[in-house]
Amino acid sequence: MFKRVSGTKDILPDEAILWQRLEEISRNIFSLYNFREIRPPLIEEAALFNRSLGESAEIVKKQMFLIQNKDETYALRPEGTASIVRAYIENNFQKLGGFAKFYYIGPMFRLERPQKGRLRQFHHIGAEAIGSLEPELDIEMLSLADTLLRNFSIEGYKIRLNTLGCANDKDKLVETLRKNLKNKTAALCPECNKRLSINPLRILDCKNEPCKEVVKGLKISNEYLCADCKKHFNKVREGLDSLKIDYEVSPHLVRGLDYYTGTVFEISHNELGAQDAIGAGGRYNNLVKELGGACAGAIGFAFGIERLLMASPKKEEAALEKKLVYLIALGDKARSYGLKLLAELRKNNIPSDTDYENKSIKGALRQANDLGAWLVLIIGDNELAKGVITLKDMLSGVQKEIKAEDILKEIKC
Ligand code: HAM
Repeated sequence: MFKRVSGTKDILPDEAILWQRLEEISRNIFSLYNFREIRPPLIEEAALFNRSLGESAEIVKKQMFLIQNKDETYALRPEGTASIVRAYIENNFQKLGGFAKFYYIGPMFRLERPQKGRLRQFHHIGAEAIGSLEPELDIEMLSLADTLLRNFSIEGYKIRLNTLGCANDKDKLVETLRKNLKNKTAALCPECNKRLSINPLRILDCKNEPCKEVVKGLKISNEYLCADCKKHFNKVREGLDSLKIDYEVSPHLVRGLDYYTGTVFEISHNELGAQDAIGAGGRYNNLVKELGGACAGAIGFAFGIERLLMASPKKEEAALEKKLVYLIALGDKARSYGLKLLAELRKNNIPSDTDYENKSIKGALRQANDLGAWLVLIIGDNELAKGVITLKDMLSGVQKEIKAEDILKEIKC
């Protein structure tokens, strides 16, 4: 028997309803904020991610699903930002006015060690706004992320916020970290010892306990920031305060991808255990230029759908909202009549189903119940002779006969 690949999931129909709900809410909110959907391909040239995320990023070093085809290497996309910037440049959005807001919903692939909340195929709901350096856009993105979470009815999340400053500031931060960590190498893991020379920012993300202890003891002041970046960050904070969006400034938050500059944020949920990030994002003001476009400030974020569902209130069983009508037709004559009735119900936008296994009335009623039907229509020889249909309300259990020609009116009211 074949089994699914480790780190992947079958999203079964009962769960798929919850996914559809999240997706529908997202699409509505994105359209409120005037974001438009983009659907880039799932495979890209691997070099796109090497270049965007950085050769020293864990994703690039260890987690890409690579496909070798003659001289070309493709990757299943591990994230959406790089693809969207590539699509923005390739499809001439800069020439078409420059500023563009996109959203995307779809699968991402990372060859990670699977565990609770960490999959090899997972799904993002993400947004990217490209073409502006203004702090108002940072506020818009954080407000959008917060609005989405509220509309998903998720509570108990925390937004952590920081700024890496511009490329110069980031270099200064890297140097400061290198200086402060130089005499702590004995306490750092072998990987972080390598990171110290290659990219010390990664040390702040290390999950090893001894490294976390070292990082906890580091004092990081905002001295590495230039006046413009300080002003930008203060404006972002003022905007969030005025919109009453809760956040916490976290100087240790740096994010594990090279493209970030300026504002960065991570949203965590207190009930998710080790993998507690439900979403993350930030500015990537240099990426468009680095991938061959003109200078264009940009910012985005992505939520992990699987983790959003883990953080969602469990009572919200969307299955209960189903409005299914179930038809039980007993005998050949009733069945051919039922065929036409079913077509009529569907023509009138009434979700409906019937028994295809020739069950007894008891078995068919049990199935109607299992499917969450609110109403059962029963037709047998008796009903056919009288020109009626028996209606059973599945919630109250009340049963009554209705004239066949009045059935649609009765169901609709
Ligand atoms: P990321 O932090 O790598 O950022 O991923 C965003 C979210 O995806 C995480 O917070 C988490 O909820 C979810 N996630 C990541 N990896 C996994 C996994 N293996 N299994 C389950 N869920 C996972 C990005 O990908 C950036 N592109 C976000 C961004 C958009 N920055 C700017 N624009």
